[in-house]
Amino acid sequence: MEIIILPTSAEVGRVAAAKIASVVAEKPSAVVGLATGSSPQGIYADLRRRVEAGEVSFAAARGFALDEYVGIPLEHPESYASVIARDVVEPLGFDPSRVRVPDGRAADLAFAAKEYDAAIRAAGGVDVQILGIGANGHIGFNEPTSSFASRTRIKTLAPSTREANARFFDSLDDVPTHCMTQGLGTILEARELVLVAQGSAKADAVAAAVEGPLSSFVPGSALQLHEHATVVVDEEAAAGL
Ligand code: GLP
Repeated sequence: MEIIILPTSAEVGRVAAAKIASVVAEKPSAVVGLATGSSPQGIYADLRRRVEAGEVSFAAARGFALDEYVGIPLEHPESYASVIARDVVEPLGFDPSRVRVPDGRAADLAFAAKEYDAAIRAAGGVDVQILGIGANGHIGFNEPTSSFASRTRIKTLAPSTREANARFFDSLDDVPTHCMTQGLGTILEARELVLVAQGSAKADAVAAAVEGPLSSFVPGSALQLHEHATVVVDEEAAAGL
């Protein structure tokens, strides 16, 4: 695992974006694993700058989001389908028909989850996966105790995750209780992983994921099993290393 510690969160976005851009510049049809949350926002902002500068194009790329809430309408502004469309697809110029988000509204959720995993494989697998990390160590929505072998499936959100994400909703009660998320096993199949974290609230999770023992209680520690994982953090998020 490569650990890159940078003075500011802006530099975290720039350095991580450079890695994504180089994969896509080399392979315009690359499959990019997309994350939501505040952590990757700096990546998307820097990638947008690169697209506008003509350095890279996502027009031929494909995208697969990590996760989605279960039980909120697709058009809800905080559904991950809406967030990915707004924060990623439109600004970076992805072809919307080449970007998928797990279907948290499917009548048969278990089938939809299996089909999502199959679609990633059918696309040739993810070339580069963007990741954030939750304060409790989750990646995607793989909450503590997730199996390292897990595939895309339905999960119950941890109370602390619902509280952390309540900022995006009118009240805690409005935060969904379940989600569909790529499993840790699914994520580990990506050819390259780029995890970003900023701020002191992530310091414990980063330290446990990077330097702690492999543990299903720290889903981010699964990155230690990957041959090409890069962790890009600011000094505050690196404080526990
Ligand atoms: C969210 C997402 C994750 C994200 C994490 C951290 O709930 N499902 O993909 O990495 O929690 O979020 P943030 O980047 O906003 O701190």
